[in-house]
Amino acid sequence: MEKIRVRGGRRLEGVLSVSGAKNAVLPAMAAALLTPEPVVLENSPAVRDVATMIRVLQRLGAADPVREDGRIILRVPEIRSPEAPYELVKTMRASVLVLGPLLARCGEARVSLPGGCAIGARPVNLHIAALEKLGARIQVEHGYILATGRDLRGAEIIFDSKTVTGTENVMMAATRARGRTVLRNVAQEPEIEDLAALLNAMGARITGAGSDTIVIEGVEGLRGAVHPVIPDRIEAGTFLMAAAITRSSLRVENCRPDHLVAVLDKLRDVGVRMEVGDSSVRVAPGSPLRAGNLITLPHPGFPTDLQAQYMALMTQAEGTSIITESIFENRFMHAGELRRMGARIDIDGHSAIVQGATPLTGAQVMATDLRASACLILAGLVADGETTIDRAYHIDRGYERIEEKLRRVGADVERIR
Ligand code: EPU
Repeated sequence: MEKIRVRGGRRLEGVLSVSGAKNAVLPAMAAALLTPEPVVLENSPAVRDVATMIRVLQRLGAADPVREDGRIILRVPEIRSPEAPYELVKTMRASVLVLGPLLARCGEARVSLPGGCAIGARPVNLHIAALEKLGARIQVEHGYILATGRDLRGAEIIFDSKTVTGTENVMMAATRARGRTVLRNVAQEPEIEDLAALLNAMGARITGAGSDTIVIEGVEGLRGAVHPVIPDRIEAGTFLMAAAITRSSLRVENCRPDHLVAVLDKLRDVGVRMEVGDSSVRVAPGSPLRAGNLITLPHPGFPTDLQAQYMALMTQAEGTSIITESIFENRFMHAGELRRMGARIDIDGHSAIVQGATPLTGAQVMATDLRASACLILAGLVADGETTIDRAYHIDRGYERIEEKLRRVGADVERIR
């Protein structure tokens, strides 16, 4: 199994370029199921979840998908079999994003129920309840979501709580429902806006994406489109923290600072000096880091997908930081690994209490999920000696060649077997 080896202590310098957003390209790929015409996605990241989604779509009927130079061309002439099987869904929960489009396109879907995962139970009850409001009949049997509904009708739906992929699934299903759908208390992440932009380019009539209410006027059919995927705000945030933790001077480019407002605010609060441009952020070699409390929240709050990386950063900040995870119930697995490197972290319910600054020492550690692996790479960059991160496959799910990118700015990071 591949590992990532980091030798700590180097200053970084130069420019890091951000790839397309994993969590925007995955729903965009699922949207290709809505039309027989080609959907072309530009600025797609070369990450493993994209390859997995291609396999899911091929099972369903995608013909000869093309993936080259950051571009994916998907064409689904017809739905061959409306089933996303367990062996694919278990490797990537985001496969559940095919549920809404399949219902809209062929009135039928059979999607393996994603189980719990390393960060929490992660049910899909809100996806199901909302699709039922559109008129779908849904049963869960033998571990599969079985959905039928040839005649979806617009409805007013109030989500009990915010869900990113739930909002995306229902938005896609509603594009072809009869009449008007009003979705309230929806997720407001930039990835939702990006999906709405693609769907509208395909002929859908969606307004309000990015706010907490989305209105969708159903249309007869959708066409193909060419769409550039937004930059990955989580990769950008990870790079900013890599610069901050190593007290380096780095420019993070091809990003959308307007998608990073809460992250930039928090970094400024803890002493990171930055110059923000239209599509880049420059981190200046910093003054000492101060501790800073954090609570993860749905967008526009601080994203849970950067909580682990922020925890690594706070091990190097002077004082006590209380980091509260409000989105997922079990997203502190990285704390135990950071402790093995010398961090002083206590967990109290949904909060982690980090005492800084502690010198970290390189160790053998285990990546438990995608963002935990990014956290351990950051810790490795400042640790004394060598850190080996086992289960490197987690990082490849969502970061494009991270070790190469970091090496280009001077980090000593490599992949080993
Ligand atoms: N939830 C329910 N019922 C549902 C749906 C969600 O109780 O039917 C709960 C979840 O268990 C969680 C909360 O609602 O406690 C929010 O979950 P959400 O549905 O928003 O998460 P998601 O759509 O499954 C996406 C990202 C995650 C990211 C979360 C939160 C994609 C493909 N995944 O997941 O990304 O952490 O939103 O922002 O967009 C990652 O990239 O590392 C990652 C985990």
